[in-house]
Amino acid sequence: MSFFSTRRGFLKASGMAGAATMVGSLGAVVPARKYEHVGNLACAPLETVKVGVIGLGMRGPGAVSRISAIPGARVTALADLYKARVDAQNAWLTRNGFAAATAYYGAEDTWKKLVEDPEVNLVYVATPWQWHVPMVMYAMECGKHVACEVPMVFTVDDCWKIVEKAEEKRVHCMLLENCCYGYNEMLALNMVRNNVLGTLVHGEGAYIHDLRGWLFAENSYEGYWRLKWNAQHTGNPYATHGLGPICQYMSVGRGDQMRVLTAMNSGGFGFEEYVRHNKAKIDTLAAKSNGTKYGMSDKDALRGPWQQGDMSTAIIKTEQGRTIMVQHDTTSPRPYTRINLISGTRGMLKDYPLQIALDQHYDAPHLGWANQKQMEEIHAKYQHPLWRQAGLFAQKMGGHGGMDFLMDLRLCYCLQNGLPLDINVYESCQWSVIAGLTEESSKKDGSPVAVPDFTRGAWKDIVPLGIETVNINFDLNKAKTGRQMNV
Ligand SMILES: NC(=O)c1ccc[n+]([C@@H]2O[C@H](COP(=O)([O-])OP(=O)(O)OC[C@H]3O[C@@H](n4cnc5c(N)ncnc54)[C@H](O)[C@@H]3O)[C@@H](O)[C@H]2O)c1
Repeated sequence: MSFFSTRRGFLKASGMAGAATMVGSLGAVVPARKYEHVGNLACAPLETVKVGVIGLGMRGPGAVSRISAIPGARVTALADLYKARVDAQNAWLTRNGFAAATAYYGAEDTWKKLVEDPEVNLVYVATPWQWHVPMVMYAMECGKHVACEVPMVFTVDDCWKIVEKAEEKRVHCMLLENCCYGYNEMLALNMVRNNVLGTLVHGEGAYIHDLRGWLFAENSYEGYWRLKWNAQHTGNPYATHGLGPICQYMSVGRGDQMRVLTAMNSGGFGFEEYVRHNKAKIDTLAAKSNGTKYGMSDKDALRGPWQQGDMSTAIIKTEQGRTIMVQHDTTSPRPYTRINLISGTRGMLKDYPLQIALDQHYDAPHLGWANQKQMEEIHAKYQHPLWRQAGLFAQKMGGHGGMDFLMDLRLCYCLQNGLPLDINVYESCQWSVIAGLTEESSKKDGSPVAVPDFTRGAWKDIVPLGIETVNINFDLNKAKTGRQMNV
């Protein structure tokens, strides 16, 4: 798989040589539009959202329980490689008073039967990254709405395929970026929409999460898929948790647009030291592991080297002149952070821990952080209405403190009511493709890389995300206590 979006390579891959036009000083290529854009797509309301979940490892089972709790939504089909994983979810469904779902398992392509199942109108993908593009494409080909775990896609070429398919079929294709629904992220969005931070200037996001214990473990990622990705790629493979919320604050893709990116990766010091210090454990793992999936053997993945490096840092500049820094580090002993920093002409907000500084009268040369009383006032005034309405229910349901439930809730609610989704196909592709673009730039020591405009200029017309909620009342007594959530 090549990440290089050269003009020749792109034209060959896309089969659109005659139709392509060159835009931007860095030579990003945009194929001519064939279909109307779907940035504000609204589809016929679904009376019941019938969800087929593919991938029941560490992440998928949480989706099964969350979706089951949403009024008007049902899990109707389940797919995994392993029968035991499908059976476990069906046992959970029946134990909790829901109908068992149709089970698909066995071969690597059995999931296609789930997609074709007439009792599925939303395909929900929670498989390893290597499977996302074929699953998303096939779902849309079959006329199904699709929601896919992060990141959805890695290459520019694959983004164009996904965008064209969504436009051709006029179906929804949403990246399941749960961090856009975090309490602090939605608070920030509400403050931005109320112009509390002034004109936005700069944002910072990250995925800094020590995953060493999971990467080098037997019963963790199926077939060591994530470690193998790290062995085979550099750049930032997992940018969307930090980037998605910043893009929503800035209305990137809906009034602004990413233009150019530069990225660098550090060496893999943490990777190497971890393996040196855990040699006995890793030798034992390697001795037992004979898999060869995901492009390399388990043994080679466990022993390294890993192209990924430890820290990836990228800076993106937008058409309107804003800047965004985005980082990734899963192999250093650092406390978890997504940074979540947004800064404007009248103040800023940053997370981990949440701190806010406001210059309300343009007269604060020595601006300090808001004190406890001021923070309480800010929460009272700007807590997002969705959190006010469904936050307690969501927290009880679980999933990263409730944000996963709110994401699934909004997704199902919009489908039931024929509304545009909070995250459209262009945002899904643009946030995800930072993986491929950071790899390209990092391999060239930070050379600037054009960020393609997958909206083909429609970003000027696509409506910015508002302060959206749902018209459902939640009975807290009916919330189930959330179950396992890993990463
Ligand atoms: N948004 C979040 O907070 C969050 C958190 C964790 C994981 N994720 C994402 O969720 C996805 C899954 O991650 P995970 O940690 O659950 O990985 P995992 O390895 O634990 O689970 C993947 C599952 O997919 C199944 N699978 C693999 N190939 C398949 C195929 N061809 N057909 C059917 N099933 C197949 C595997 O058997 C496994 O059960 C990844 O994309 C990851 O990035 C997101």
